[in-house]
Amino acid sequence: MRIWVDGTLRNADDATVSVLDHGLTVGDGVFETLKTVEGAAFATTRHLDRLTRSARGLGLPDPDLDEVRRGCEAVLAANPAPLGRLRITYTGGISPLGSDRGDAGPTLVIALGAASVRPDTTAVVTVPWTRNERGALSGLKTTSYGENVVALARAHAQGASEALFGNTVGRLCEGTGSNVFVVLGGQLLTPPLSSGCLAGITRELVAEWSGAQEADLPLEALDEAEEIFLTSTLRDVQAVRLVDGREVPGAPGPVTAKAMRVFAERAGADLNP
Ligand SMILES: Cc1ncc(COP(=O)(O)O)c(C=O)c1O
Repeated sequence: MRIWVDGTLRNADDATVSVLDHGLTVGDGVFETLKTVEGAAFATTRHLDRLTRSARGLGLPDPDLDEVRRGCEAVLAANPAPLGRLRITYTGGISPLGSDRGDAGPTLVIALGAASVRPDTTAVVTVPWTRNERGALSGLKTTSYGENVVALARAHAQGASEALFGNTVGRLCEGTGSNVFVVLGGQLLTPPLSSGCLAGITRELVAEWSGAQEADLPLEALDEAEEIFLTSTLRDVQAVRLVDGREVPGAPGPVTAKAMRVFAERAGADLNP
């Protein structure tokens, strides 16, 4: 395994960052995960745009996207894989031990992990913790993912693959690493960005390609939905067949099945939509 660290490709054993890196000490960093198929990354332009948006939101200098692209290409060339997870991590760099960021400059790490084809259907649970739609990090893809670690562990403990959050006012928001869509009265709906969810790239593409509408929904919409699906870089479109142990009959239903088919066709036809 060869990993890109601050401008050089290194073997995994030497691919290290400082123990004083602000990403490690306080979660001061942003990241992106891209899907790769046979060494080619999907939707790179959208992912790099979001990396810049997240960095700006956290007050980090804009990442040098030429360097990021160079690093991605080098990592993909050095680690051939049929299906992969290309992870770009960009942090505040070496800093004092508190929340103040140092002036050493940011750290950039790019690594490739293995990915496997996800099942077409899955189980989810709701969790009692909330997404803070008014928080300083709302909508940013930061490395401060401790809340997601706890919620995802809860989901796994209950035999589910994802945990869904409501926000502070009880509206449906997103999963730990996915966006959520529901079909209500035959209409395909997804929570708006004002719910505090991440602007998922897959969410964006599904909305464009399958005509979903944004709708401010209560968390309880999950109880009435005719169909539910998740979207994310590594799930694409994935039908939900169980919510908190309740079956969603017939999953994947017709709207979900169509969204899955359209996504596979359009993504297959254009690597960088
Ligand atoms: C919190 C959160 N929401 C949604 C998503 C889905 O976004 P994308 O489709 O860009 O992978 C992710 C991605 O991992 C995420 O971390």
